Amino acid sequence: MAEETGSDVAIERLAAVIGECRKCPLWEDTHHAVPGEGNPRAELMLIGEAPGRQEDLTGRPFVGRAGKLLDGLLSGIGLSRDDVFIANIVKHRPPGNRDPGEEEIRACTPYLEEQIRIVGPKVIVMLGRHSSRYILSFLSVEFDRITEIRGTVYPGLLFGHPVRLIPTLHPAAALYNPGYRESLEEDFRIIGRELAAAGEFTR
Ligand code: URA
Repeated sequence: MAEETGSDVAIERLAAVIGECRKCPLWEDTHHAVPGEGNPRAELMLIGEAPGRQEDLTGRPFVGRAGKLLDGLLSGIGLSRDDVFIANIVKHRPPGNRDPGEEEIRACTPYLEEQIRIVGPKVIVMLGRHSSRYILSFLSVEFDRITEIRGTVYPGLLFGHPVRLIPTLHPAAALYNPGYRESLEEDFRIIGRELAAAGEFTR
């Protein structure tokens, strides 16, 4: 384990660096960076796409309607925000909530990788296709549609840590679609089971 694994200081120092980031132009139209937050010793890390309007205004991840849905999914498996770490692929809000571009993702993801190294989670849940595509590329897993792979558990090593990678739908997609909400609930039951078994992971 790296010396900084689980370190509050390391995660806060990184958040301060992200707050000043000018590596891509996204920051220009924003109020705050949204570095991510939660327990730096969490066994579960959740990765979304990018801050939305509420997140940009507050500097905190998933505080809008999709965030409320996420809170409900977490509490359904006995977890609160204090138990998990929540981050995004990009840390500044893209204008009008457009998808993050390739260059923006390339510029920003070293921060996410550093967060994964510091937290050292046992389970990583990717919310939506952008984070799923990025994280699963480390295991050379490709896919066309998130609905084809959601709820699948991919075991692997990420930065030297044994980890289970689980793609699922983005909670925002479930806001108006009861079928997606059921799928998310089903995937969170799988996530709960994987976490319960996390002590036994060797690879
Ligand atoms: N959607 C995301 O992907 N991330 C947030 O932080 C909020 C909404």
